[in-house]
Amino acid sequence: MTLSENTIPANPLENPEQKAVIDAIIDENLHLNGATMVILNQIQERIGFISKPVQAYIAERLRVPISKVHGVVSFYSFFTTSPRGKHTIKFCLGTACYVGGIDQIIEKAKQLLGIEPGNTTPDGMITLEVCRCVGACSQAPVVVVDENIRGRVQPNKFPKIIQDIQTQEGAH
Ligand code: FES
Repeated sequence: MTLSENTIPANPLENPEQKAVIDAIIDENLHLNGATMVILNQIQERIGFISKPVQAYIAERLRVPISKVHGVVSFYSFFTTSPRGKHTIKFCLGTACYVGGIDQIIEKAKQLLGIEPGNTTPDGMITLEVCRCVGACSQAPVVVVDENIRGRVQPNKFPKIIQDIQTQEGAH
């Protein structure tokens, strides 16, 4: 069976350097209360994502069911199971943004980029994500491009956001 690199991210456990980082994080925090959360946070930060094999490995080392680790990873949107793209566009799903029509912006993004929130474009350039209220409700609907908040985004303005990212990349 052949699967593209886009569907199967590289397994950090097969990379000796990354495996050493993962082992060190686990060894250091194994006996803490709330070890799962602490370890997941550090692995997300250092490795950049927490793939299924890594979740299974953490569960085995902590002697907890894999469903527990998987449950935590899926509950918090800041954990990702595959590498994030170079740029991230987050859609606020808070009440004000929802009422303000964020779903139409998400539709537009899906149309333009051909991916669903939670995924990355095949060129590794843009990841789409959803997030909770970012505190800019008066500017709803809001998207967060990398760390920058863009308010009052309308579906017809969204292509410009993508273009800006492309221009920025082209300029490098
Ligand atoms: S609901 Fe989107 S910023 Fe508050």
